[in-house]
Amino acid sequence: MSRQVKSKQRVTDHGEVFTAEREVNAMLDLVKQETERIDSRFLEPACGDGNFLAEILRRKLAVVKRKYGKSPSDYEKYAVLAATSIYGVDILQDNVDACRARMFAIWDKEYTAVCKKEVNEDCREAVRFILSRNIVCGNALSLKKVDASGKDINEPIVFSEWAFVTGFNLQRSDYTFDKLLAGDEKGRDIFGSGKPMKKPDTAQQTLFDRLETEKPNDEGEFVKKYISHYRRVQDHGG
Ligand SMILES: C[S@@+](CC[C@H](N)C(=O)[O-])C[C@H]1O[C@@H](n2cnc3c(N)ncnc32)[C@H](O)[C@@H]1O
Repeated sequence: MSRQVKSKQRVTDHGEVFTAEREVNAMLDLVKQETERIDSRFLEPACGDGNFLAEILRRKLAVVKRKYGKSPSDYEKYAVLAATSIYGVDILQDNVDACRARMFAIWDKEYTAVCKKEVNEDCREAVRFILSRNIVCGNALSLKKVDASGKDINEPIVFSEWAFVTGFNLQRSDYTFDKLLAGDEKGRDIFGSGKPMKKPDTAQQTLFDRLETEKPNDEGEFVKKYISHYRRVQDHGG
C-alpha cells in the first residue's frame, strides 16, 4: 500500500488514512517477540487493507520457514497455524476483500516457494477459508456485521478460535465478538490471557490486544465447534 488516502470522502466518512510501512514496522517492533511467535493472536479492529496484519503474517511466516523450512509437511501445518492467529475487522467491504487477498498472496507465495512440488490445493483453499472467517466486514464499535453501505445489521460479528487438537486435526470454535470484548467476566477471551478485553473506545484501539493463548478460559458465548483435518476446514462453511 503506497497511497495513504484513497479519497477525501473516505477520510471524512470512515477516517480512512492508511499507515505507512515505516510506522507499521516501528509499531510492530514494540511487540517484536509477539510478532515472531507463530501462534500469538493479533486482532486489528480497523484493519483497512491490512498494513499491520500483512506485516505480522510476514514475520510469523519467516519464523515458520526458519524452524520448519526443511520439512514441507511441518512447514505447511505451522504456516496454516500462523494464518489462523491473525484477525481483522473493517467496516468497508472493499478493504476486507483487499486485506484477505493480500494476506493470501503473502501466504501462498511463501508456501509455494518452500513446499514447491508438495503444495496442496486443499490446503490453499483451507487458508482462503480461514482468512474469510478471520478478516470480517463489520463495525468494531457496535460489534455488529454491516451491509454493503456500512450500516449495522442485526447480526453479531463472530470470530473463530482455531486450535490444533490432535496431530493434523484443527478445531474451530466460534464465539460472538461482543462477548469477547464486553468485559463480561464470563466472556471467553481468545485474544487475551484470561481477563476480558475492554471494548475499544475507537475502532483503532485494540491492535495490540493480542495475547497468550496457552491457557484459554473455559467459558464464553460459544456458538459452534467443528473439528477436521486442517486441509479440510472449508468443509464446515458458514
Ligand atoms: C485510519 S484507517 C487505518 C487502516 C489500517 N489500520 C492502517 O493502519 O493502514 C481506519 C480504518 O478503519 C475503518 N473503520 C472506520 N470505522 C470503523 C468501524 N466502526 N469499525 C471497523 N472499521 C472501521 C476504515 O474503513 C479504515 O479502513
